[in-house]
Amino acid sequence: MFNFTALPPLSLYIHVPWCVRKCPYCDFNSHKSPDKLPEDTYIDAIIRDLEQEIPSVWGRTVQSIFIGGGTPSLFSAEAYDRLFSSIRALIPLSPHAEITLEANPGTFEAQRSADYRDLGINRLSIGIQSFNDQSLAALGRIHDSKQAIKAVETAHKVGFDNFNLDLMFGLPHQTEKTARIDVTTAIALEPSHISYYQLTLEPNTLFYQHPPTLPDEDPIIDWQIANQQRLAEAGYRQYEVSAYARKNKQSQHNLNYWHFGDYLGIGAGAHGKITDAAKQSITRRSKQKQPQTYMDTAGTSTVILSEDIISKSDIGFEFMLNALRLTDGFPTPLFYQHVGLPISHINQALEQAEQQGLLERNIHLIRPTEKGQRYLNVLIELFLPE
Ligand SMILES: C[S@@+](CC[C@H](N)C(=O)[O-])C[C@H]1O[C@@H](n2cnc3c(N)ncnc32)[C@H](O)[C@@H]1O
Ligand code: SF4
Repeated sequence: MFNFTALPPLSLYIHVPWCVRKCPYCDFNSHKSPDKLPEDTYIDAIIRDLEQEIPSVWGRTVQSIFIGGGTPSLFSAEAYDRLFSSIRALIPLSPHAEITLEANPGTFEAQRSADYRDLGINRLSIGIQSFNDQSLAALGRIHDSKQAIKAVETAHKVGFDNFNLDLMFGLPHQTEKTARIDVTTAIALEPSHISYYQLTLEPNTLFYQHPPTLPDEDPIIDWQIANQQRLAEAGYRQYEVSAYARKNKQSQHNLNYWHFGDYLGIGAGAHGKITDAAKQSITRRSKQKQPQTYMDTAGTSTVILSEDIISKSDIGFEFMLNALRLTDGFPTPLFYQHVGLPISHINQALEQAEQQGLLERNIHLIRPTEKGQRYLNVLIELFLPE
């Protein structure tokens, strides 16, 4: 039996499912935008969706909001103004809430971003990917490096002092030199946070069916290590597999995921995870993925595509899958607080991981060792249910 004595922090994720066009490497729930975006209809749908979810989080306060996509910067400030008015009327929002919006440099305009700022959006996540025009073109991006730099300069100019840049490495046409220039250019633009992902060929993408020519894996790893060193020297400390932040600028929203906190998932294809203290259970829920089906069904039970209660046998693995991504690991008591079971529930796997030199622990902290970070999949697999 679970025993939740308190509830974890609550975040809100809102998904915007359209992009100017679909990038060939992307497996997110994103669709080529129709000529006229159904902005008002979609905002109405997400408000209905949120209204339907409210009883599951009565009395709780939202600690962070993340508007992701797709390309949320396709929507006007007026649309988000209406959305935020409804959110504030429906659920308490912490006055210190981090509110992030994902932006694409190809759809980034000064007046609109100033308006976003005025609405209370206090963090941006800008999808740069690379500053190399040849790589950007091969990735099917709608922007070039000049637009990427301009977008970051605009973010500074309109007063965003907290923003992330997404970069990828292991790209078509990439060399040691261009990979280095991507990172040094990003650092020179002074974001507070950098996400640095290796390009993966995901099933259900064009790149998976028709793989592009990519640099060899061995040199890519060397570039990654050298560039991680550059990030560290510039004050961007790695705190998660792909995330680097200046002091106190870690993404609060993503930290809540990695700490196995709760989140409402609103919008087409969005996922949520909510703890219920009365029922002593945790439920995962996902929404209809197709934008039209989502808009047609939002506010009814049909909008729910899947709903699963996390079992006692899976929960240790699910927690570790998230928490071990953090280079500093997690405070040991967090397991009991967010899982509702004593840490002894996963003792066998913890011992094995420790014996293999993949993890270190004491009563205060559990964290992956350097070896554990390098072989994260091996480490996490130890926590799979029998
Ligand atoms: C949800 S996407 C949305 C960002 C925004 N729509 C954009 O692309 O400008 C978040 C980030 O995931 C990363 N990403 C997406 N597909 C990836 C892949 N196949 N391999 C590695 N990183 C990927 C990209 O850096 C991207 O910016
Ligand atoms: S713009 Fe971003 S979300 Fe849209 S298809 Fe490209 S990578 Fe995916």
